[in-house]
Amino acid sequence: MRTYLASTAKTCDCAVAAVHEEGRGAVLGAAARALDKAAGGALQRALSNGAAPPKVGDALLLHTPKPVALVGAGKKSASLGDGDYRKIIAAAARALRKTSAAKAAFYLDELAVTGRNSEWKAGAAVGAVESEFYRFDELKSKPQPPGHRVKSIAWIVPDAARRALAAKGLKAGAALAEGANLARDLGNLPGNVCTPTYLAKRALQMRRSHGLQVAVLEEKRMAALKMGALLSVSRGSREPAKLIVLKHNGARDPKAPPAVLVGKGLTFDAGGISLKPAANMDEMKYDMCGGAGVFGALAACARLRLKLNVVGVIPSSENLPDGAANKPGDIVTSMSGRTIEILNTDAEGRLILCDALTYAARFKPAVVVDIATLTGACVVALGAPASGLFSNNQKLAAQLIKSGDAAGDRAWQLPLWDDYARQLDSPFADLANIGGRTAGAVTAACFLAKFTGDFRWAHLDIAGTAWGGAPRKLASGRPVPLLVQFLRDCADGALRDFF
Ligand code: BES
Ligand code: MN
Ligand code: ZN
Repeated sequence: MRTYLASTAKTCDCAVAAVHEEGRGAVLGAAARALDKAAGGALQRALSNGAAPPKVGDALLLHTPKPVALVGAGKKSASLGDGDYRKIIAAAARALRKTSAAKAAFYLDELAVTGRNSEWKAGAAVGAVESEFYRFDELKSKPQPPGHRVKSIAWIVPDAARRALAAKGLKAGAALAEGANLARDLGNLPGNVCTPTYLAKRALQMRRSHGLQVAVLEEKRMAALKMGALLSVSRGSREPAKLIVLKHNGARDPKAPPAVLVGKGLTFDAGGISLKPAANMDEMKYDMCGGAGVFGALAACARLRLKLNVVGVIPSSENLPDGAANKPGDIVTSMSGRTIEILNTDAEGRLILCDALTYAARFKPAVVVDIATLTGACVVALGAPASGLFSNNQKLAAQLIKSGDAAGDRAWQLPLWDDYARQLDSPFADLANIGGRTAGAVTAACFLAKFTGDFRWAHLDIAGTAWGGAPRKLASGRPVPLLVQFLRDCADGALRDFF
């Protein structure tokens, strides 16, 4: 879908504009008034003839005869919050999908959103529309009923002063949507297609498609690096592990310290010898969504030519039961030299991530953010609204929260106190890979914290946010919006002391 900026819509086959509530009646917004005039008063007539004015989150589709979607935008005098604006653009996108329009024009820049400018409004709108039209049917044998595809969206900004901002927002929105769609596609692929080898192949393609530097480390190399924790997980699978490294060198100084993103790329998690129950185990194909998020974030950075050095590190493996698999009680030695007692083979994410975190230190990072579908406990704690956030640096944590809020992809901080870390004590090894029944998301993060050396680090537990539950089990593309906003903010100097 193409999005472009315009001052007026010359040709479009569906216009989207705002209508406000006033008492029990409806008041057309400025753009809707102009459309009404062009349609000989048809919009006003429909509303006066009893068509209920749409509430925030609803739309009224009228045919004048050209389709016009009037989206409810609340009281005209009130400034909207982020959440309301997002409801409005989601309603606009849904209404558009009900038409058969190929070229739409959105007249929504006129809405006032508290603390947000035209760039933000345009960016959020592109994201909402792309997300509404996302489909994943590449594995159906017969072509699906084509479904309605919008070819282009004109984002109308009559005010010349705001146009440059809106143009920036559209560009960012398109790059973000590409990244989020890539993450969703990779996530939705089944475990028998999306293996570590497949992910490595897709990574190598990003040299040509996105101009990224790509390296894939094989098991032999990982053994030479003494990644004993990571390799203990892949030993139980016929698919060899891969450690994928993606680089976007965008900073003016090629040696400037990078932001390093480490993504869990567990392409299928059966639990290993500590086998998971059968119900919904298919969802464990999504256990590589942290890695997919790193793919998506780097794709967006490249598209935006972001002036920041960014490195992606994706440890990728399967976790299956097998004669060579980890057994409860096994002790392995991580790349850091620390020994780990594996009390539950299903706590494998932290085993592959700890070696990837140790490896990340070699990039002399400004910050490291790892992203992982790490614990069921995080789903219990926060559900789908927020990813769990943990950090050893409060400035970094605060920025991630702020960027996530702006992107509509929120994170909520949980503690990393020593009181919890003690739950990982082991009588036999330096630490155990599980911390008991309580505070599972926290003890998992405490485990990772032990491998972060002296760099600034944050961990995002996306177990509750990376995909939707049954019946529509689609990958969400999260936390690509948070990550891309965060990296853009860093490029704009948000964490100047770090980079
Ligand atoms: N990939 C899972 C976490 C997960 C579970 C994500 C359910 C989303 C939904 C992870 O590898 C895992 O199995 N974690 C265990 C840890 C436990 C053994 C300490 C869990 O959460 O049950
Ligand atoms: Mn597991
Ligand atoms: Zn897992």
